[in-house]
Amino acid sequence: MTGRGIGFRKVILFNEHFVVYGIPAIASSIDSRIEAVVERVDDARDVSGPSSGLLRGDGWVLEDARLAGTGRRVEEFHEVEPLLLVFEALGLDPAEENLKITVAGDLETAGGIGSSAAFCVSVARALSDEFGLGLGDDAINRVAYEGEKAYAGTPSGIDNTVSTYGGMIYFVKNMSGGENRIERLDIESPIRIVMGNTGIPGKTRVSVSGVRRRREERPEEYSRIFEESRELIREAAAALKGHDLEEIGRLMDRNHELLQRIDVSHPMLDELVEIAMDSGALGAKMTGGGLGGHMIALTPLEESQERVATAMREAGFEATPTMIGVSSTKAEYRLDE
Ligand code: MEV
Repeated sequence: MTGRGIGFRKVILFNEHFVVYGIPAIASSIDSRIEAVVERVDDARDVSGPSSGLLRGDGWVLEDARLAGTGRRVEEFHEVEPLLLVFEALGLDPAEENLKITVAGDLETAGGIGSSAAFCVSVARALSDEFGLGLGDDAINRVAYEGEKAYAGTPSGIDNTVSTYGGMIYFVKNMSGGENRIERLDIESPIRIVMGNTGIPGKTRVSVSGVRRRREERPEEYSRIFEESRELIREAAAALKGHDLEEIGRLMDRNHELLQRIDVSHPMLDELVEIAMDSGALGAKMTGGGLGGHMIALTPLEESQERVATAMREAGFEATPTMIGVSSTKAEYRLDE
C-alpha cells in the first residue's frame, strides 16, 4: 500500500510578522503544491536513492525529489526535525516502522513560499492515508503546526493553515492559545502574480526573533507601525473583496514599507520590488519571513506578468509567474484517483 498527500504552497499577501502578534493577515495558496508518498519497505536501511542522497533516520528514509531541480544536497535538507515532530503529533514511532517517504513538487524549495508548511501538510496527509488514521483538514492542520515549530519556533499558524486548506484566507492568531480565526476570503477571480526569488534562503526564525527584540527595545515606534498594519489589513480585505486591483497593489506597496520599517526586508528584495514597479506591476512586496527569500508582484494581465518576470530575469533573478485566489477544491488526498 502507498499513502499519498498534498500540501499547497502559499504566499502571504498582507501582514507577515504582524500576524505573530495577533494582527490579522491574508495569505493565499499559489498554483503549486508539494506531494508526498509514503511506502512501507522491508528494511529502510536497504533503500538506495539518487546521487543527491537520501535522508535517513531510525526506521525511515526520505527522498526529496525536489532536490533534482535545485541542486540542493541532502546535507542541506532541513526536514528531519519537522518530520520527527509530525510523526510524534500523529502518535507514530518511526523506529517501529520501515518507511520510505518521497516528496516531490513543481517549484524550488527554499525561500518563504510555504515549502516548509506544504512539506509538513503533505507528509501528515500521506502518513494519515498510509496508516488509515482518517484525519480531516482540521486535524492535519494541527499536526502540520507541530511540524512547523521546527522551522519557526512559535509560528503564528498562518502557513500551515493555508497549506492545508488552500485558497485565500483571512487569518487571526488567537493570542490566548485557543482556536485561530480562519476565514475563507473569496475573490471574484484568480489574480496573476510574479514571485521573484532573491536566491538567498529566507531566515524566518532569525527575522521573527529580530522583530521581537526590536519591538521590546523600541516599543513606541513599533506600536505605531503595528497599528498601521492593523489599519491596512481592513483596507486590504475590502480591496480584495471588491476586486479593486489598483488598491490591492497600492496596499501591497504600503505593506512592504511597513516590513522595511521593522527591518525584515533585504536589499535584494527591495531591488526586486523596484524592478517590478518599474516594469508595470500594480504593487509589490516581500513575502514570508524575509531577510532573503521571495517577493511578489501584482500583475493582473498576462502581458504585464510576462514583462515583470522578464525584467526580473534580465536583472539576474529567478522569476515564477503564478496565480493567487485559485479556489481550492478540498485537497485531493489520493492524487491517483
Ligand atoms: C512566515 O511565513 C510568516 C511569519 O509571519 C511567521 C509566522 O507567521 O509564524 C514571518
